[in-house]
Amino acid sequence: MKVLHRIDELRATLGRQQRIALVPTMGNLHQGHLALVRQAKPLGDVTVASIFVNRLQFAPHEDFDAYPRTLESDCAMLEAVGCDVVFAPTERELYPEPQAFRVQPPTELADILEGHFRPRFFTGVCTVVLKLFNIVQPGVAVFGKKDYQQQLILRRMVKQLGLPVDMVIGETLRAEDGLALSSRNAYLDARARAEAPQLAMALQAMVQALRAGSTDYQALETRAMQTLSGRGWQPDYMSIRRREDLLAPTQGDALVVVGAARLGSTRLIDNVEV
Ligand code: PAF
Repeated sequence: MKVLHRIDELRATLGRQQRIALVPTMGNLHQGHLALVRQAKPLGDVTVASIFVNRLQFAPHEDFDAYPRTLESDCAMLEAVGCDVVFAPTERELYPEPQAFRVQPPTELADILEGHFRPRFFTGVCTVVLKLFNIVQPGVAVFGKKDYQQQLILRRMVKQLGLPVDMVIGETLRAEDGLALSSRNAYLDARARAEAPQLAMALQAMVQALRAGSTDYQALETRAMQTLSGRGWQPDYMSIRRREDLLAPTQGDALVVVGAARLGSTRLIDNVEV
């Protein structure tokens, strides 16, 4: 496996002929990322994982500097699952000058839910992903369904900008107790880790009520928020949306239940399709 930090080295290594499968990450990898790499492998001739902590998607109050940089162990994990190339550019390599050109996703998609609580987050994500696509030139890219709104916005970006990239979305990997795997789980102490599956359980309770025929979405959302608050969480939202565009559902729409809540200082997100 090659670990490359420069765009010219990457271009020289990848050449022009192959179908490249890309898994973009911010590093600090866990089994969920590795599952995406395994999924990517048969889809291309060469599998590239990018590792880049993207300053543009952090708000000023979010801790960009404290985000764990674990390149050595990330590379060992990627090598073990057969990744061919790691592209880990420095900030200066990816943003040699202030990134003034940005990709602005539509407000109706990007300013709701996560975007409401993390203004400009999706602008940062879309900008870096478009840039990575331009640099790596993948034929296929794999993202996780755990970041439901992110994958939706990125798929829309690819469609609307006519990018020649097949978008593949990998299922969320969960611990045995139901907690969705996430780099942020590493921030949980033992007590918080024991409590953390309650977010998935609250989402599952909403899903079960919906499957049983409940149509009072507002009541289900309020109850889920109250359940989590009562257990010491600070929920941002627990919301029933339509899968297609995350807007309020009308009858017959395919649904997804999405949630975000803070447990102590750790903010977790999760979702379950109905
Ligand atoms: O999901 C992530 O890890 C990041 O948002 C991504 C897609 C790698 C862009 O920085």
